[in-house]
Amino acid sequence: MGNTHQATSLLIAQISDLHLFGDERQNLLGWNTWVSLTKIMQQLERSTPRPDIILLTGDLSQDETEASYKKIVRYFAATGIPTYWLPGNHDHVPTMKRVLDQPPVYADKSFYKGGWQFLLLNTNVPGQVYGALSADNLEWLEAQLTILPSHRPTLISMHHPPFWVGSPWLDQSGLQNTEAFFKIIDQYSQVQLVLVGHVHQEFECTRNDVTYLSTPSTCIQFMPHSLNFALDNNQPGFRLAWLHPDGTFETAVERVGVKQMLNLAAQGY
Ligand SMILES: [Fe+2]
Repeated sequence: MGNTHQATSLLIAQISDLHLFGDERQNLLGWNTWVSLTKIMQQLERSTPRPDIILLTGDLSQDETEASYKKIVRYFAATGIPTYWLPGNHDHVPTMKRVLDQPPVYADKSFYKGGWQFLLLNTNVPGQVYGALSADNLEWLEAQLTILPSHRPTLISMHHPPFWVGSPWLDQSGLQNTEAFFKIIDQYSQVQLVLVGHVHQEFECTRNDVTYLSTPSTCIQFMPHSLNFALDNNQPGFRLAWLHPDGTFETAVERVGVKQMLNLAAQGY
């Protein structure tokens, strides 16, 4: 697929919901999240060409420890690929800001690459599973969209989706103040694409010519269209997106075979 893309296109890899522990032996529902991330990264490293950017879309840490973030920054620095991140509900934002800021891992939340503007939003509400954009974050988003050139294609990313995926237990923990978000982006036609995590499954929808995409987790998958919490046997994965300078894009989810047994009786998600 790569050969058909314009040489000037930017290839980004979205990696989401890693749920890593400071102690690499710990498991999430019987699943070792460091092992499955490493399988994902091995497949990503084999993709040709290598991604220009890695975008980590939240729930980087399951235990929210400094030790977990130190391992994460070392792990992605070793790829040599510029890596950007935003927090999920399973994250400790002050620790992330302090630790995840060593090139090629960057804490920048607004940057320009390959003709595209990237705006990364924080929807973390401490102590809550659901997400929301604070008044400060909404003001920042609007200020960015106002200041930046209106012809520049823009990708927004945040952890919590501003749409429903058809699973009531998950949908109640999405972005709470979607109307405030839509009210802003509806005024700025340069917004083309919104990438989210949180739902541990692939999903796509469009609203006002903006495409919204969610991406599988690098560990456990949630069952689509489920009334209550339920796990899916689908393999973990990541998303590739080729962003063209004219504002168009192509994207695909890649799944990675990981042989691990889920412990459905385990607690802890
Ligand atoms: Fe998650």
